[in-house]
Amino acid sequence: MAPGRVRVLLAPPRSSAGRPRADECAVVVDVLRATTTLTVALGHGASRVLAAATPEEAAALRTAHPEALLCGERGGLKIEGFDLGNSPFEYPVTAVTGRTLVFASTNGSQALLASRAAARRLLGAFVNLSALVERLTQERAVVIVCAGSSGRFAIEDVGCAGLVCERLVERGATLEGPESTLARALAPRDAREVRALVQGSSHGRDLRAMGADYARDVEFCAELDVLDRAFEI
Ligand code: MLT
Repeated sequence: MAPGRVRVLLAPPRSSAGRPRADECAVVVDVLRATTTLTVALGHGASRVLAAATPEEAAALRTAHPEALLCGERGGLKIEGFDLGNSPFEYPVTAVTGRTLVFASTNGSQALLASRAAARRLLGAFVNLSALVERLTQERAVVIVCAGSSGRFAIEDVGCAGLVCERLVERGATLEGPESTLARALAPRDAREVRALVQGSSHGRDLRAMGADYARDVEFCAELDVLDRAFEI
C-alpha cells in the first residue's frame, strides 16, 4: 500500500492544538535516548510501556502495576530507587522479557504523552529506521513528533524525522507543512552522516562527556538499521 500524508512537529506542542489526532499514526522520535532504548527493550521482549510525566507519576503507576519495572532518567542518570535508567544496554532479554515498563524520561516520555490521542504510537529511531518506514507505508496519515529538549528543537530528532519523510516520499507520500520540508532538508543521506549528526549533536556531546558508558549509548543510537522491527506502544 502507498503511504499517505506526513507532517512533522519539531518539538511536542505545548497546547492541544497541533497535537497528534485520533485519525493519525504518531511516530515519536527521541533518538538520544528514550525511543532508541524503548525500541531495544520491546525487541528484547518487554510486554508494554507505560509513559509517565514525572518520577512521582511513575512511582504511582508502579503501585497500580506492581509487576512493572520502574525505568527512566533525570539529567541522564537513573532516578534514585528506580530499577533501570535510560541506556539501551540496561534492557537485555534477561532483564525485560515479559515485563511492563513504567518509563519516565525528561523529554521522550513527554512526547509520548503528548501523542496519546493518536490512533497508534510508534517509536522512531535510526536503529530500526527501514523497518519503521516499511510499517508506515500502511498508514494514510502520519505525524512525526520530535521530542527535542525542553521544548526546543534537537537536530538528531529532526534529522531522523527528515530521513523518514525522505523515504516515505520515495514511496509516494505527500509532505504537509514547512516543518516536514525543513526536516527532509536536514535528513542525513547515509550511515556515515547519521553517525556524524548524532555524535555531533548538542545532546550527543553532553552524553559523551558523562563517561564511557554514555559514549557507548550515543554510538549505538547513531547506528542506522541494526534492528529489523518497528514497535507500537
Ligand atoms: C529524554 O527523554 O530526555 C532523553 O532520553 C534523555 C537521555 O538521554 O537520557
